[in-house]
Amino acid sequence: MTSTNSVSTFTIHNQPHKTYRLRHLTTISPPYRHRNRGYTCIYPTEHQYLRSDDNGPWAHWIKLKQPKLIVAPMYDGSELPFRMLCRKYGAEAAYTPMLHSRTFAESKKFRSREFSTCEEDRPLFVQFCGNDPDILLEAAYQVESFCDYVDINLGCPQRIARTGNYGAFLMDDLPLVKSLVEKLATNLTVPVSCKIRIFPVLQDTINYAKLLEDAGCSLIAVHGRTREGRTRERADWDAIKSVKNAVKIPVIANGNIRHLDDVQNCLATTGVEGVMSAEALLDNPALFGGFRSGEWILDGEDGFEDGKLDRGDLVVEYLKLCEKYPVRWNIIISHVYGMLRKWFETHPDIRDDFNVKRDLSFEYLYSVVDRLRARGVRFPLYVKKTETQL
Ligand SMILES: Cc1cc2nc3c(=O)[nH]c(=O)nc-3n(C[C@H](O)[C@H](O)[C@H](O)COP(=O)(O)O)c2cc1C
Repeated sequence: MTSTNSVSTFTIHNQPHKTYRLRHLTTISPPYRHRNRGYTCIYPTEHQYLRSDDNGPWAHWIKLKQPKLIVAPMYDGSELPFRMLCRKYGAEAAYTPMLHSRTFAESKKFRSREFSTCEEDRPLFVQFCGNDPDILLEAAYQVESFCDYVDINLGCPQRIARTGNYGAFLMDDLPLVKSLVEKLATNLTVPVSCKIRIFPVLQDTINYAKLLEDAGCSLIAVHGRTREGRTRERADWDAIKSVKNAVKIPVIANGNIRHLDDVQNCLATTGVEGVMSAEALLDNPALFGGFRSGEWILDGEDGFEDGKLDRGDLVVEYLKLCEKYPVRWNIIISHVYGMLRKWFETHPDIRDDFNVKRDLSFEYLYSVVDRLRARGVRFPLYVKKTETQL
């Protein structure tokens, strides 16, 4: 039985019955003025981040047990039930999907619809996009008690980000980026992280990372592709390595992580603290648990065996988590599609039925898995016969 408490207008599940104070939410204060005044909340941030300590970023990272395997931010993809599924299968930290800071700061409805968490959902990065330091701070105040980093999205390359002037389009206005990071780093009680893309010229990327570090950023996640780079292109791990060597704060690598061998290769090549994965997790949320999609096993490659887990099992687990932690139906549908893609390709009639189905229910979604299973086809996930320890 789930006990759900609505605090601060978004949903925090399974709370212990303790009372903690939460920052005043309605106005932006000068640094520290109204810290911890007035509002009650029942979910604490255990740590207190010490800005005065030069080793703050590392002390914090160590306190979080140095997570290596991280779920990347995914709009309509890295919501609470999916994060919890990935955590069950080895993810050691996770990002929320990108949240628009202005809408988050202004709209209760948006907050309650788009952000939820629970006690086990840690370490957690809450990611915002935006280009106004005050508004970004207003949004960040609301989640700082529920996360381990407030993250700024500096990597979104999509047209909507160009129109809204956020994400990777802020690479054209580095003074503004600096002011965003400074504002959060000076005012929040949790550290600030940034997710960036690389510039076409390596030295520009290095300068960029140093600027973020100097502005108070405590962790940089580097997606090793340029703003114009396509996901199909190989991510530039050498550029990520150069960033790692140029800054003193923890660095996370992103791009081309499809299975645990990629994780090991990426850590060895770049020297970073951890890696994060997006697209491959949508297909296989058990990736960090050592499960590998057959797609990434070469013809004739030896050394793998059936992991006794298939995507039907994962869909069922995911749906149970969605029943416990409700999210929008379109998110659920897109995950079910993502995980069952291969099954649907071989049984298009079941997919077509799904496509035309109105009034979706959990019962119906479970029955889709049952029907696919009844056809007797399996697309197992594989494990290495001996998986070396990371
Ligand atoms: C469905 C989807 C949604 C995404 N949404 C976000 C987002 O909200 N914020 C963000 O910084 N990156 C987002 N990304 C980019 C990923 O976090 C990641 O940087 C990119 O996919 C490269 O990693 P990969 O090679 O493991 O897929 C998204 C990617 C996908 C596939």
